[in-house]
Amino acid sequence: MNTKQNETLALHAGHNASDTQGTRAVPIYQSTSYVFDNAEHAANLFSLSEPGYIYTRLNNPTNDVLEQRLAAVEGGVAAVTTASGTSAISTTLMVLLKAGDHIVASSSLYGGTYNLLSVTLPRLGITTTFVDPDNPKNFEKAVQSNTRAFFAESLGNPKLDILDLKGISGFAQKAKVPFIVDNTVATPALLNPIDYGANIVIHSLTKYISGNGTSLGGVIVDACTFDYGNGLFPEFTEPSPGYHGLVYHEALGAQAFIAKVRVEGLRDFGAALSPFNSFQIIQGLETLNIRLKQHSENALVIAQWLEQQEEVSWVNYPGLASSKYNSLASKYMPKGQSGIVTFGVKGGFEAAKHIADKTELFSLLANIGDTKSLIIHPASTTHQQLDEEAQKSTGVTQDLIRLSVGLESIEDLKQDLKQAMS
Ligand SMILES: Cc1ncc(COP(=O)(O)O)c(C=O)c1O
Repeated sequence: MNTKQNETLALHAGHNASDTQGTRAVPIYQSTSYVFDNAEHAANLFSLSEPGYIYTRLNNPTNDVLEQRLAAVEGGVAAVTTASGTSAISTTLMVLLKAGDHIVASSSLYGGTYNLLSVTLPRLGITTTFVDPDNPKNFEKAVQSNTRAFFAESLGNPKLDILDLKGISGFAQKAKVPFIVDNTVATPALLNPIDYGANIVIHSLTKYISGNGTSLGGVIVDACTFDYGNGLFPEFTEPSPGYHGLVYHEALGAQAFIAKVRVEGLRDFGAALSPFNSFQIIQGLETLNIRLKQHSENALVIAQWLEQQEEVSWVNYPGLASSKYNSLASKYMPKGQSGIVTFGVKGGFEAAKHIADKTELFSLLANIGDTKSLIIHPASTTHQQLDEEAQKSTGVTQDLIRLSVGLESIEDLKQDLKQAMS
């Protein structure tokens, strides 16, 4: 199946109609649990000596299709879906790390992830050094003897910086730690971080992959390229007391991490995706490639138009010739740079807040990646909890407005922004 192109995989990977009574659509298996054939079958499933469904917190046939499909479109080997993008990130880190471990992360992150790394994980003894991702060498410089992961967003939200994935993955390899990439904003329609050395790819499925603004979801895709037997990850090479002495690296080889995510991560932290949400997300994934082409085209037109408006002091979109990320965009995202545009207005904080208040077609809300256009003023909303210094390092300034440019008529969108600005 994986010899097919992404457009085909997004529609077909992971589902054989003959396995589901001929249904062309993937059915919703809305069941918490599965009847075992007999006691021996049950015991075999629990001991992992036989594959099969046990309980929907661990696995589910609808989620299974979505997982195989997302692994295929990202060029990975296996995937686990989760209840949200946030739980995909927290489950990954909780499975991989322990108290005393250290992360090197890009400072250009979604505000929620920044909080997880800077406030919540340190309470559990896991610390993070944030670095300016524009220079890959900064990742190497921040490596400590206890560093066990690199973390970054391929296209930062809301800074819209494009990572030099190849440069950073080289330093991750040198440090013998997995490189985890949140690919939510770029999407697999425009960029596959695994092609450039990422070991684990994470998505908030809530955004473009669903695209319809109805369902939260997340996924962890494993490229199965990282060697957990390299001496730095004893939880993978020593018997796990959490799973009757299983030595993950020995028993599962390249799939050690993703297997541990399912059997320990989902079991212990419980952030399973609802099969109903999974079904909704599958509908979205079917049109991802075509939507992202149009989102990218619309965003570029809006960004170019904003550059000409007198109320606007700066515009940030990696597809603009004026963007400092334009050459990285040509290298990593030549098909398009997704639908997020940020810009600053001359009136600063109050003017930016006012514009977000006055648009009519652009909905004022805290989401991105919907087919409908969205707007927010991060400094007074999503990034309000961060102090001004932290806001700045995540790319948020007081005058910044973030647009998620949807699929409406471009003329209607311009008109809406114009009336709000005037
Ligand atoms: C880049 C990025 N990663 C992760 C998340 C978290 O996803 P969710 O809201 O599905 O938990 C978001 C949410 O905005 C995001 O923008």
